[in-house]
Amino acid sequence: MTETPMTLRELIARGDAYLQRRNVPDARVVCEWLAACLFKCGRLDLYLHLDAVPDTRIVDALRRGVQRVAAGEPVQYVLGRWDFRSLTLKVDRRALIPRPETEQLVDFVLASPQVRRTPKPLVVDVGTGSGCIILSLAHDLHDGVFVGLDVSPDALALARENAVLTGLADRVLFAESDGCGEFDPASVDVLVSNPPYIPSHVVDGLERHIRDHEPRLALDGGPDGLAVYRAVLLDAVMVLKPGGGVFFEIGDEQGPALRDLLEEYGFVEVTVQRDYAGKDRYATGTLGF
Ligand SMILES: C[S@@+](CC[C@H](N)C(=O)[O-])C[C@H]1O[C@@H](n2cnc3c(N)ncnc32)[C@H](O)[C@@H]1O
Repeated sequence: MTETPMTLRELIARGDAYLQRRNVPDARVVCEWLAACLFKCGRLDLYLHLDAVPDTRIVDALRRGVQRVAAGEPVQYVLGRWDFRSLTLKVDRRALIPRPETEQLVDFVLASPQVRRTPKPLVVDVGTGSGCIILSLAHDLHDGVFVGLDVSPDALALARENAVLTGLADRVLFAESDGCGEFDPASVDVLVSNPPYIPSHVVDGLERHIRDHEPRLALDGGPDGLAVYRAVLLDAVMVLKPGGGVFFEIGDEQGPALRDLLEEYGFVEVTVQRDYAGKDRYATGTLGF
């Protein structure tokens, strides 16, 4: 039986209905992202193509994408790329999908005295994942030494691919490391990190598109969610210069605990700041000795 050719408008409407029946949030937007990717345009430019009758290659690809999302896969992994600040990065199961709130963490580092007053700062991103933070910093800062660390060889492979993709491979070094204790004492100007911060017992209850697809290593922060912060701070007091800065993304209920931890490890000018949704999301401090 031959199918009546459908316009892109009709295909998107069908995909939308299919995903809505499976309770996928933002079904229409998801279909538009998939279609925009196939048409190699922005989502808002799709209206230029809505009356086109796509060829079977595009129709099949769109259907496959819709089915993968319906089966629980994050749309970002289906698309295979995602925007973070001004960079378009490759994303896949090897690392966490960069989140919009992490973009603001980069702003804190860019505005910091450690970066603004140091001619060639050494900036280290612990738990670099896709490389989104350190690549953005290298992109926006003219001078500096930029290092991304991760315990996951898979994540590091993706980060290196992203460095090539963004033309920053000769400005950012990636290395496997548990924590960040391997730098010379008092040599680092900035430590930035979005570590795994979800308590272990909460991870299994996360939405399935996160729990079943994003790496557990990127999510699980140990029994109280603070294990990697403690590990990074232990190293930080050794490797940061006096006056060096630490910049963390945190869980929305971790503000008081992070404030206490930073002060306990000798940090001063400690701040806990909110994201655009009004939730505690960032903790920063300056090494006071
Ligand atoms: C929440 S993800 C953040 C990824 C990326 N920086 C971002 O913001 O999208 C945390 C990352 O930390 C890494 N990680 C977990 N424990 C670590 C440790 N002890 N030392 C270094 N990296 C670690 C994970 O492999 C994962 O890539």
